Amino acid sequence: MISRLTWIRAGFFCPACLINSAEWEQTARTGTDSVNLLAISSSPRKGGNTDLLLDQLLRGVGDALGDHQCITGRRDHNSTVMIPADSPVSSGHFIEKIHLTGLNIKSCTHCDYCQNDGNCIIKDDMQQFYPKLLAADWLVLASPIYFMAHCAQAKLFIDRCQTFWSRKYILKQHLRTPEQPNRRGIFISVGATHGPKVFAGSKITMKWFFDALDMDYWENLLFEGFDEKGSIKQSPGILAQAYQLGGKIVENL
Ligand SMILES: Cc1cc2nc3c(=O)[nH]c(=O)nc-3n(C[C@H](O)[C@H](O)[C@H](O)COP(=O)(O)O)c2cc1C
Repeated sequence: MISRLTWIRAGFFCPACLINSAEWEQTARTGTDSVNLLAISSSPRKGGNTDLLLDQLLRGVGDALGDHQCITGRRDHNSTVMIPADSPVSSGHFIEKIHLTGLNIKSCTHCDYCQNDGNCIIKDDMQQFYPKLLAADWLVLASPIYFMAHCAQAKLFIDRCQTFWSRKYILKQHLRTPEQPNRRGIFISVGATHGPKVFAGSKITMKWFFDALDMDYWENLLFEGFDEKGSIKQSPGILAQAYQLGGKIVENL
């Protein structure tokens, strides 16, 4: 039988080999020093500044895991999975990056259905994220600054995480478990302008977003003065900071 890793190595999209949400959770829980990291790129500009920073961070994670040849493959056109080549899936290292652009994520309607059982009644592409967000030890959200806030794609995603707020504050569920004592969040953002308040609004949003997810707001990567698509590449020092943060994640497993 062709293993899933073979497919991932080859970069093929094979529906039979997809890592589904249940497997993702299972994978996450098999190692005590595992990386179970979900990286969300929300900018509508794929290959834009925040997306590039996120890729650098993931590269840093992959390299710090001791393998410079991480197997990367696409689950579908929006998702990239990364598993260290020397580590079987069962080792527990699992990293997935997902672009929100192109996904069908509707806005929260404040119907309060999630207050019944912690699930969202809206059946769209957001559903794939709920088990992943429950299983994640690390969540990295990358969003550009739009009108002093997150971009719309990120905000839709954040608002649909009201389900976790309901679980935590209405249903009194513990999202942090003894098997998963550390849940940590990182925010990556870039704005074109300069000023003390460029990231102020989105940092407050992230504080309460990570709180709802029962995650520590662990680190920020915030950079001002970049507007053109990909212009952040002209600042290797900044890319290096993102890469180093990836290494720091692995140091803190
Ligand atoms: C609709 C829109 C609103 C924006 N608003 C702001 C803003 O309020 N402050 C700012 O510094 N930059 C603003 N920008 C610039 C982006 O934050 C900047 O170009 C950033 O580098 C984009 O990141 P990306 O390449 O990852 O999409 C705005 C851009 C757009 C398209």
